[in-house]
Amino acid sequence: MNLIFLGAPGAGKGTLAGIVSREYGIPQISTGDLFREAVKDGTELGRKVKGIMERGELVPDELTVALVRGRLERPDTARGYIMDGFPRTIPQARALDGFQRIDTAINFRSDDAVLIRRLSGRRVCRVCGAIYHVDNIPPKVEGVCDRCGGQLYIRDDDRIESIRNRLRVYREQTEPLIAYYRGLGLLREIDSSRSVDDSAAQLRPILESLRGR
Ligand code: AP5
Ligand code: MG
Repeated sequence: MNLIFLGAPGAGKGTLAGIVSREYGIPQISTGDLFREAVKDGTELGRKVKGIMERGELVPDELTVALVRGRLERPDTARGYIMDGFPRTIPQARALDGFQRIDTAINFRSDDAVLIRRLSGRRVCRVCGAIYHVDNIPPKVEGVCDRCGGQLYIRDDDRIESIRNRLRVYREQTEPLIAYYRGLGLLREIDSSRSVDDSAAQLRPILESLRGR
């Protein structure tokens, strides 16, 4: 199952990719997480992308495609994967088509008011990457990860100016991918504006139909 999760910032791609990854035993490949790791480790890539990410702009296509190509060489992708946050531009999608066969691109639909509320209240575990929300999905103990006890933090790009820029960049550069995958006959859509369970319930029949093929 080679899956792409499409959708605006805050649509719930990362949250649902985590669930699907555990249920189906395929890795979640989040370019955002990979870039954040590089920034945290202070690598050359991390130094290049830090400012770009804080402003909510996109990392250049060449760097992003090279990162994904390298990640796909790891053996854990043999039975499939979930691309979370990639591709994000038409050139990235074309590049991916050149070296991978995609089964389905699932678009997560939500309106801006929901997206802004979600991003403004997001908390992420520094250790295991688990995603919480102060109101919707609070941890049992404030500031502490339920799963591993790690400390929760606020992403640098979850400030309101950066959120607005990310939504603008999404409309301009990423939204055209919906038509791109529709044109290839690979697009499925879910309404991700309600609860996590509700999104998971919409995803399951789509994934089961792929597994049965
Ligand atoms: P990335 O990390 O991919 O960020 P993003 O696309 O802005 O998406 P998010 O992670 O913000 O949203 P999400 O859909 O995963 O939502 P989540 O599940 O966390 O990218 C960051 C940056 O890296 C980019 O800006 C760019 O600079 C760079 N980058 C990455 N990929 C790139 C690429 N391909 N090309 C170029 N540059 C790239 O949920 C959000 C919140 O809502 C959480 O608090 C969660 O708990 C809550 N929530 C989720 N679902 C629900 C629900 N159903 N009900 C209630 N609350 C929910
Ligand atoms: Mg994410």
